[in-house]
Amino acid sequence: MGARLICLPHNRPMAKSVYVCSDCGTTAPKWLGKCPGCGAWNTLVESVDEGTSKNRYAAAASSRAALNPAQPVATLAEIEASDVERQPTGIEELDRVLGGGIVAGGVVLIGGDPGIGKSTLLLQALDHLSRALPVLYVTGEESGAQVALRSRRLGLGASRVRVLAEIQLEKIAAAIEAEQPSVCVIDSIQTVFSDQLSSAPGSVAQVRECAAQLTRIAKGSGTTIILVGHVTKEGALAGPRVLEHIVDTVLYFEGDTHSSFRLVRAIKNRFGAVNEIGVFAMTEKGLKGVANPSAIFLSTHGDPVPGSCVLVTLEGTRPLLVEIQALVDAGGPSPRRLSVGIERDRLAMMLAVLHRHAGMAAFDQDVFVNAVGGVRISEPAADLAVMLAIQSSLRGKALPRGFIAFGEVGLAGEVRPAPRGQERLKEAAKLGFATAIVPKANAPKKAIEGLTVHAVDRIEQAIDLVRGF
Ligand code: TYD
Ligand code: MG
Repeated sequence: MGARLICLPHNRPMAKSVYVCSDCGTTAPKWLGKCPGCGAWNTLVESVDEGTSKNRYAAAASSRAALNPAQPVATLAEIEASDVERQPTGIEELDRVLGGGIVAGGVVLIGGDPGIGKSTLLLQALDHLSRALPVLYVTGEESGAQVALRSRRLGLGASRVRVLAEIQLEKIAAAIEAEQPSVCVIDSIQTVFSDQLSSAPGSVAQVRECAAQLTRIAKGSGTTIILVGHVTKEGALAGPRVLEHIVDTVLYFEGDTHSSFRLVRAIKNRFGAVNEIGVFAMTEKGLKGVANPSAIFLSTHGDPVPGSCVLVTLEGTRPLLVEIQALVDAGGPSPRRLSVGIERDRLAMMLAVLHRHAGMAAFDQDVFVNAVGGVRISEPAADLAVMLAIQSSLRGKALPRGFIAFGEVGLAGEVRPAPRGQERLKEAAKLGFATAIVPKANAPKKAIEGLTVHAVDRIEQAIDLVRGF
């Protein structure tokens, strides 16, 4: 993987801390509650002072020159557009989200709730990679013994993965230089700290500075660095979100830790598309890829129940059937609107559309909506299924057995087409679904065997149709 030249952070003179406003960039020598530049409160964060801006540019230029010689300015057409070379990780579902595999010098961030399977997946991937390449697993959360125990549990007894239990950035950097791995996992970035900063490990300043240094190491040495980041339930205090712009690829784990299925979704990928998801099942022996995931997010009701509607959503190149559940129940003076897996603002809009255009009032009711299995659905094509689930709960009438729906609903009550409707319908028919309500433009030109398709262009028509079932 190319010549290696590592710019080690500990070779630099000991840096001073400065406090930088995250809004306007004003610097102050000590922490202040209010930014002297823009007057914003609580925006100053600690960072490393790299000298005056003139020196900084000079230093940056010389370190760049050390890494690779200055490039001449070229016309776009003259630059050869060679595709980057990818090294498959050997885990098919992970390669799918990465766009084929890892890229030399690339930095990948994998985020997700604690306990969702980040360490497990990466240990499995490193084991595969270690058969062809030198790899290093830096663990800051678990001891070497705990990692070894996990590897035995995963059946990786004879693994050649090199392990380092260390949390100090400078020592990690030295180990990367000594080991020269092709792939290095840092588990997790929140435990790493640099002694150049006085703030605690896990603080925004530490996380950002350590990730920036590791990115420099990756670019300079050609080592692929994979950073693990925890996302807290409340959002992201010092969470990996502050790193999203630094790294090349951002993957997030989704799914309910209580169920066995996990989704890995690419949020950003400088080396490939971001629309693919990887689907895994957590087993006794670690994470196993699910090649045919279309039916895993359906819950199994004996008989159809009110408040449930199956949505055919399209994730990447594969259609996925997800049950949407709604519960509408008498609320207090300020009724609640809660949603899991569906955007809450979107839910409020759908309730308004249902009221205005279909005469279904829920303004005095609590409304809860859930996408089964912990999937997060962001595509607007979910609207119709969510609204049909809500009306079904409101009326206490179940939708017919084997019913699916998809389609975006606009504020004027119009039902807009969803991309690749035919594929969605075919997948539903394959899984034995019998009735569908879809946007007019998605109506199949040729009948699909076993599936009765009702095409609508307004939400009122859809509501009228289900009243008649
Ligand atoms: P882990 O990879 O430690 O999560 P993270 O690094 O994201 O915090 O996964 C932890 C969970 O996975 C833990 O609750 C146990 C479970 N697990 C299995 O079910 N099977 C296995 O083979 C392994 C290794 C873990
Ligand atoms: Mg872990």
